[in-house]
Amino acid sequence: MTEIIRINTDNNKDVIKKCADAIKGGGTVVFPTETVYGLGADAFNPEACKKIFIAKNRPADNPLIVHISNMAMLDDVAYIEDDLREKMKHIWPSPLTLLLKKKKSVPDIVSAGLDTVCIRFPDNPIALALIDESGPIAAPSANISTRPSIVDSVTAIKELNGRVDIIIDAGRVKYGVESTIIDCTVKPYRLLRAGAFTVEDIETMIGPVYVDPLARGYSQSKVALTPGLKYRHYAPSKKLFLIEDENKFREFISSDLASNFLILCSEENSQYARGKALILGRDIYEIAHNLFYDFRVLDSSDKKYGVIQSFPEEGIGFAVMNRIRKASFLIIKDKDNIDKINKVLNEA
Ligand code: TXA
Ligand code: MG
Repeated sequence: MTEIIRINTDNNKDVIKKCADAIKGGGTVVFPTETVYGLGADAFNPEACKKIFIAKNRPADNPLIVHISNMAMLDDVAYIEDDLREKMKHIWPSPLTLLLKKKKSVPDIVSAGLDTVCIRFPDNPIALALIDESGPIAAPSANISTRPSIVDSVTAIKELNGRVDIIIDAGRVKYGVESTIIDCTVKPYRLLRAGAFTVEDIETMIGPVYVDPLARGYSQSKVALTPGLKYRHYAPSKKLFLIEDENKFREFISSDLASNFLILCSEENSQYARGKALILGRDIYEIAHNLFYDFRVLDSSDKKYGVIQSFPEEGIGFAVMNRIRKASFLIIKDKDNIDKINKVLNEA
């Protein structure tokens, strides 16, 4: 049985205590962060962490992020260089996750047998209060494996009711894309996953970071940057087509063929749509905020397919494009002919 608890200013303390008790007792709790919902368990309890893998249908070789709420907790789970620790005091809480050498206290199931662990200090008052009360929480994104991450509580309940002990019902999250992950065990530091914390900000606040071309999100490459990234990710159930060239996108959405497609685009491009378009947002932050939500709108729509445009890869747009590419069934690159879409549809 899953208990669904709506949180508000009046019941806040009681709810947090109840959820922390569930975590300490070896249970699982779905909770909001500023990026996406997480599915958490006591990071020091292997049996509890095992429940996360079962609830999500997650492959055992995909490690979990450990969530902390103060710097002392960091020292309980990982090793960090002094100067980076000093910098992080000013940067955390925020959606920047660090890959560090792990301490023995972190069970193998959390790190999937690796000698490293991802550490995240989330910037969300509910998450922070919960971790303060329970201690470090291991939590992946709350979605069932391969599905889009969950950014609202209605979806959390739909997807996870019956699979976890508690779901905290706290509405929509702030960013809508996951945290940025950097590998701090190598120099220069290396981007492992683009996310809500921008590369530009990392370079200003911490220093140079190596960005592998894979971070842009093309192809389900076998040489994944993190274990999780070799799996299909973030995908709606319906086939999504990305048309990177803006003119080709406009041409496509104004064609007859587009009537079978839910069109996901900017307000500006919506005027080219023959039918009604789903406007993702007015700026890139709004687009990030709505992206995973609208993938699920696509799944419940009466359209057979989805088609989406590309956005500039600056700031959070870098993470947005990474997620769109990974979620896409087919990418029409600038040099590609749009007939490729027809071909795929005819083969299906
Ligand atoms: O915003 C977020 O980071 C959310 C919220 C809930 O905090 N969490 C999240 O977790 O996105 P998850 O498990 O969905 O993604 C974590 C990624 C996976 O690709 C995983 O393979 C990678 O981090 N990862 C975790 N530990 C790692 C390790 N020790 N070495 C390499 N990659 C690791
Ligand atoms: Mg995930």
